[in-house]
Parts: sequence; C-alpha cells; structure tokens
Amino acid sequence: MRILFLSIFLYWNLLTACDAKDKEWWQTTVFYQIYPRSFADSNGDGIGDLKGITSRLSHLKEAGVGATWLSPIFKSPMVDFGYDISDYESIQPEYGTMEDFDELIAKAKELGIKIILDFVPNHSSDKHEWFIKSEAGDPEYKDYYVWSDGKPNPNGGRNIEPNNWVSVFYGSAWEWSDKRKQYYLHQFTKQQPDLNYRNPKVLERMSDVLTFWLKKGVSGYRIDAINHLFEVPDLVDEPVNIFDKDPKSYGHLWHYNTVDLMEVYDVIYGWRDLLDDFKKTNGGETRIMMTEAYANMTFTMRYYESDDGTRKGSHIPFNFLMISDLNGDSTARDFAHTVSKWMNYMPVGFTANWVLGNHDNSRVASRYGVERIDALNAMLLTLPGAGVTYNGEEIGMVDNKNISWKDTQDPAACNTNPDVYMKFSRDPERTPFQWDATKNAGFSTADKTWLPVHPNYVDLNVKAQKEADKSHFKFYQQLMELRKHETFQDGTIKVLALTRNVFAYLRELRDKDTFAVVINLGGNVEHVSLEPFRRLRNKLKVVAAAPSSQYHEGLIIPISSVTLEPYDCVIFTDGAKNQKRLFGDWCREVILIISLIVTFISSIYSLYFCTCHNINTK
Ligand code: GLC
Repeated sequence: MRILFLSIFLYWNLLTACDAKDKEWWQTTVFYQIYPRSFADSNGDGIGDLKGITSRLSHLKEAGVGATWLSPIFKSPMVDFGYDISDYESIQPEYGTMEDFDELIAKAKELGIKIILDFVPNHSSDKHEWFIKSEAGDPEYKDYYVWSDGKPNPNGGRNIEPNNWVSVFYGSAWEWSDKRKQYYLHQFTKQQPDLNYRNPKVLERMSDVLTFWLKKGVSGYRIDAINHLFEVPDLVDEPVNIFDKDPKSYGHLWHYNTVDLMEVYDVIYGWRDLLDDFKKTNGGETRIMMTEAYANMTFTMRYYESDDGTRKGSHIPFNFLMISDLNGDSTARDFAHTVSKWMNYMPVGFTANWVLGNHDNSRVASRYGVERIDALNAMLLTLPGAGVTYNGEEIGMVDNKNISWKDTQDPAACNTNPDVYMKFSRDPERTPFQWDATKNAGFSTADKTWLPVHPNYVDLNVKAQKEADKSHFKFYQQLMELRKHETFQDGTIKVLALTRNVFAYLRELRDKDTFAVVINLGGNVEHVSLEPFRRLRNKLKVVAAAPSSQYHEGLIIPISSVTLEPYDCVIFTDGAKNQKRLFGDWCREVILIISLIVTFISSIYSLYFCTCHNINTK
C-alpha cells in the first residue's frame, strides 16, 4: 500500500515540476510608468495628483497592463520633481493625502493592477530632517551624508573641493556648507545630498522605508539611480575623458569611483532578502524590485544575482538597450544584435525585460520616428519577459520641443543656459498626458498647466484613438491580448535580420503555436521570404498587423512572399507544430506512463504481499 501512495506522490511531484514553468505575475506582465505630475489633475491646479491617477486607472485596465510604477509621490520640495525627498513616509501635499493613496491602492486592487513605488535611496532632499541635523553636526546624524573637509587651497582661504568629481546635472559634485564648514557630496543637484551607505544606520533607516510601504500594500519598488549608491572612500579623482572638453560636464570624467561599485550589489541582495522575507511573513504574491542603472552588461547582469550565484537581486534590472543602443537610424542587424545581446548575457532561468522609454529620455516616437511607434510597441509586447511602457507611448505621444527657457522646469536644463538648455531638458517627454480634445487635453481644468500641453493633442489623444477603427492604441490592445498566448509568455526566441530593414523573430514553445513577428524599419515596401527561419510551414496566417499594413487578421499568405508596407509590422502564425496530444505535452505523457507502470507494479506487489501476509497470519 505504501508503495502505491509513493507512486502517486511521485507522479504528482513530477507533474507539478513540469507545471513549475508557470510564471509569476511580474515575469509576463507589462509595467506602465505613470509620471504623476503629468497624468491627471483632479483639483484644477495644473499639476497631476493621486486622485487623478485613481480616476484614470481604468485606462490602464483597458490597455491591458498588469502593473504601474509611479515616479515619486513623496513629500518633496520638487527641485528634481520628486526625486528630492524630504520625508520618505508621507505624500507630497500637491499630490494628495495618505487617504488618497489608500484609495488608489484599493481601486488598483479592484482592477487587478499592481502598484510599484519609486524608491530613491541614493540621496534625500537637503530639506530632509536627516540632512538638516547632519549639517548641524547632530552626533546621531553626523555621518548620514558624505562630508569632506576638502583640500587646502594653494591660494589660501577656504579649502577647495576634495576632488574633481562632477554632478550628473552639470558642475561640481561638491557643495560647501557654511554651517558645517565642510563640503557635502551630491551626484545630482546640490539640493540632493548623497546618503552615506557606509553608515549602517542609513541602510537600516532606508530599509525601514521599504517595509513601511510594503505594509501599505504596494507590490514592489522601482529603485532609482542605484549604481550611484557608493563612492570610493578615499575620494580620489576620476580620470578625464579627453573627448569631452567641458570640465563641468558629466561626460568629462570616467566614473570609475562614483558608480557601479561592488558594495552596491550587497545592498541590492539585502533588499531582495527583505522583499522575500516580507512575503514569507505576510503571504500574498511576490514583491519585486526593478532597478535603474545605466551601466554596461556585466554590471547590469550582476543585479540579477551574485557572481557565485548564491544571492538573488533585482527581479527586473532595467534593460535600457532600446534607449541606449537603438534609434531611428538602426538597421535590422542592429535590432537583431541588440535583442540577442540581452538574451545572451542574461543568466539562465531569469526574466528578460524591455524598456522603451521613461521620463528621462526622449519619447519613442521622437527617438525612432512617429511612423515606427507601432513596430516598437509590437516588439515591446512580443519579446520574451516583461515590458515597460512609459505613459503616452501606447498612443504614440511625441516630445514637446517648444518649451521656452522661461517655462523650463527640469533642473538638468535649468542648471545650464538659454543657448543649450534644450539639449539637456527632460521636459519635452514630461508634458501632460493627452486624454481628449478638450481644454488642456483633458488633463486639467487649470488656466496654465505645470508644463505646456503638446499642441497636437487635438488629434492625438486617447479618446480619438479609441473611437477610430484603427489606431496605435487599438493595436497596442490587440498585442496585449496576443501576448497572453503561452508561446509569448513562455516561448523561446530566434531573431533574424532578413534584409537591411526587415527585422524578424520567431517565438516558439514546444508543440504550441509558433509566431513570427516581422518588422519593416524602413520607408520602402519590402518583399521578403520567411523561409530562412526553416521552421515554418508553407502557409502563414496573419494574427495582427499594424494600422498602416495592407494585411489584415485572418489572411493566409505563402511563407515565401511576404509584402511589407513602409514601417509595417505583421505577426503571423503557422499553428501548432503537432496535433494536440492527449495530455497536453510530451513531458506530462511520459510522466503519466511511468507513473501508471509504477502504480501497476506496486499494486501487483502489494496484492501479493497482502496475500502472503494473510496466509502467514492464518
Ligand atoms: C533617476 C531618475 C531621474 C532623477 C535622478 C536623480 O535617474 O529617473 O529622473 O533626476 O535619478 O534622482
């Protein structure tokens, strides 16, 4: 009898081992980044807020996204629009109250949308109580920030900066405090002093902040500028990049001493433990972290896990390759190479992700050209793993490049001058979300919005795209539906540059439907054959096509003659490879057969054993 149970147990375990391929929520979802200041204004002050977001959450649901990460909503003097936090555990009053946040969480839960918050660990605001006390020399807070006496001034007088480090936002990374008679480090604006992670108390206090919001029901964090967390303790100069002659510019130095230090990863692995422990103690689904680090592949991949594989880190180390390595001039070969690059570098068993845009970079339609927006969205939604959409990309919003020096808000631009500010400004991609053709694009009823609305909102808005027969938004929705297919959720990828302009890839999963995504990056009609993939049947069915395509859903075409319109994107299927098997896939069948044999033998054996036993006891 025992053997019978054992075989059933064995069968069950093997069966569920196959099922373990099932992904967790974050591995297949699309994350939608909301820039709260520009998303929806509920009280008519020209600035977006939490109630506004809550009232528009249904848009995310309609788009098909499963989670949203919000740029910072915490109390802040707004020098860097929320990335300068003066209280990590309260809400910025212009954005609302803690009750508004609770309502947002409740509504999101009702709609099945996870909320991810932006955690900004590298620096606080100079108005944070910790900095004020640190500057005043309070013994407890003295070492909360990176302070230095500086170097003796050869000309006499006040010491000079301790080294040549420059801030990401132009100019020296050191600011003199008259109060403390020392310099403090700021890798971003001078109102964003760097916290000192060599002080264990700082790490502890910041870890408490993570727990605080987890308890309020958030599903994880986007972790800001993480690779800036540590600097070398001896504060030595960074080497000069001779190609950038401006000593105030961030590009003037090679940042070997201020970014990507190994200590950063220990903090990340520790925070991963914190998230995992929270789940163990409190139950519920996995809480995740997405890390922001503009770094090379080696440094980026190390966020996934430690080099020896013993510690886990970020669930989603942002993949910025579509921002850094590709643009409107890229060829199909560049695309094929870039996609393969991430897939090849990623450690086995981890989840890929694709970021098309964010609040720090020019919009997709502006970087790649408006005519390529559908193709890029199609890639984002059909490549393996998670996707990240910045608000507005689903309708193809473009940068508003006509923002005057007077109207400019971004400190990265304001720190420069009226001649060059536009080169540095991130305002163009941050303008208000375009909901409809009413005043201020339906974003706000105010007379003046914090940044000017793009004048194209009259035609380019969510409402118009919902009403149109075909639109960027409708295509986005269609792709979202398609991506639910198990081949897209769990399948492999094979990429090919079919011609200079035609980029294509296959998504395959065992005996499930195979899909081919075919993109024409160029402005001419292209005739291609998908035979080079060698794995497709002769006839293909169109399952989705960009609004401008000559193809439509359901059309059957021969594999050898695919015609693509300029900037076209078509997704084909050739159906499942084999007839559906009785029990799903071969793995289950083999397991079932083995367990049936084991069950059969064990039953015979137990029958025999019982009979003998009975005979003996008689
Ligand atoms: C990150 C943010 C950016 C901010 C900077 C400083 O890169 O995305 O907006 O200015 O960190 O916090």
